[in-house]
Amino acid sequence: MLELEGVAPPRERNKSARVTGFAKPYLLGLGYSIALFTVGWTTWRGRASIVDLCSKLGYRHDTREPIELPAVSMHSITGDASAIRVHELDAVDGNVSEKELVVLNSLVVSSNANSIFELGTFDGRTTRNLAANAGDHGRVFTLDLPRASVIGLTAPIHQHEERYVDKDISGARYRGSSEEPRITQLYGDSGTFDFSQYFGIIDFVFVDASHAYRYVVNDSLVALKLLQREGGVIVWHDYGRWDGVTRALNDLRVNHGKFAELSYIEGTTLAFLRSGSSPQ
Ligand SMILES: C[S@@+](CC[C@H](N)C(=O)[O-])C[C@H]1O[C@@H](n2cnc3c(N)ncnc32)[C@H](O)[C@@H]1O
Repeated sequence: MLELEGVAPPRERNKSARVTGFAKPYLLGLGYSIALFTVGWTTWRGRASIVDLCSKLGYRHDTREPIELPAVSMHSITGDASAIRVHELDAVDGNVSEKELVVLNSLVVSSNANSIFELGTFDGRTTRNLAANAGDHGRVFTLDLPRASVIGLTAPIHQHEERYVDKDISGARYRGSSEEPRITQLYGDSGTFDFSQYFGIIDFVFVDASHAYRYVVNDSLVALKLLQREGGVIVWHDYGRWDGVTRALNDLRVNHGKFAELSYIEGTTLAFLRSGSSPQ
């Protein structure tokens, strides 16, 4: 056996050392659980943690909107993996997950998208990635709600999403990047914003602004108008996680012919539609 010269291998830990080593996570976990179940449940985040914990045991929270879209594999949409560029991998609350970022980037590459419209910029992590994968001449338009505009919206947004609106700057994570010159930051409420100059010129739309039912319906209908060609793609975030999104997409699939082929991508909260894949 080859060994590192001058360095002795660590000794095997005996059973009592292993038990002692486990004491720290045990006590931390116990303390966290006590806090969560006594005080923590009064916050939205605490309640979400409890529901998450139960879902690990196979429990499905029955007040949740049911998942009705058919699941499709990422491979069935993108085919064999193509080379993608990934920036800003670390996700924060409000972002897509790391896996979802990879899926989104693959969808942009596999659909040869050049012009992309994102509804809901937040910190610009996804915006930067969309631009990076849209090709050297690709463009991304991204719309965000300015903090001051949260008062007097066309329809109420969900109380829990106000924290994503409340920030000093939209798109902080793409600012100063090599993708920034190909990104156009737009500001406004998607319920009243005048999208008309972008109608029919977009290849790929990412819908991730307000998660309230009426906004998701509005933004989905806008997304359809933005697309310029058959084979254009719309992707939504948070299907199966935010009830407003889940319900709106379930309703669109059943009640609007152009959304009949809506599906969601297995292992993610991304819903997917390729235009032209459904009857009029
Ligand atoms: C969940 S964050 C978007 C996350 C981002 N797409 C990402 O992948 O990291 C939602 C964003 O939508 C914006 N937003 C919320 N309601 C909106 C509205 N009515 N019109 C436009 N943007 C809105 C918020 O300001 C926030 O920046």
